[in-house]
Amino acid sequence: MPSHSPLVFHAANIYLAALSLIFLFSPTISSTALTKAKTETINQVLDGHNSARKAVGVPPLQWEPLLATYARVYSSNERRKDCKLVHSPGYGFGENLFWGKGSRWTAEDAVAAWVAERQWYHHANNSCNAKDCSHYTQIVWRTTQRVGCSKIICDSGETFIACEYYPPGNYFGQRPY
Ligand SMILES: *[C@@H]1O[C@H](CO)[C@@H](O)[C@H](O)[C@H]1NC(C)=O
Repeated sequence: MPSHSPLVFHAANIYLAALSLIFLFSPTISSTALTKAKTETINQVLDGHNSARKAVGVPPLQWEPLLATYARVYSSNERRKDCKLVHSPGYGFGENLFWGKGSRWTAEDAVAAWVAERQWYHHANNSCNAKDCSHYTQIVWRTTQRVGCSKIICDSGETFIACEYYPPGNYFGQRPY
């Protein structure tokens, strides 16, 4: 689990501001361009995250289009060729990655796979038993407020899904909730 300094929060704010400017001057992107399918995906992602959060008593996340854009740009530019589970530079975001053989995986599947790690997490000693559960702890991290995700099909035909979180979770030595 990585630790972060307060500086990265500042960096993330600047990055989000820069992305906002790109949006402002991009004639091709507008909120009205959201298709019904995209709205469904967003609802599935939020439902998956927020039911897991509700179960442990932490407030719900909101969808952040700028985080989704960041995920899409990183996935398309850096991972489309190799489809590897390699993290982005982050810029102070938390990040969950999912890889699946074939193209039929949805964001809902990815979130369900991450939430299933709950079985490995022990709150009493704040540790994952035998297997990684850091995707789950990011999902239920109390101070995280926003999420944005993207799915791409890699050149190989496999699925790569990334969700970005802000503020990030998984601070070493801290409990998610
Ligand atoms: C944490 O607690 C669980 C459940 O009692 C136990 O199985 C696990 O070994 C503990 N992990 C550590 C690192 O102490």
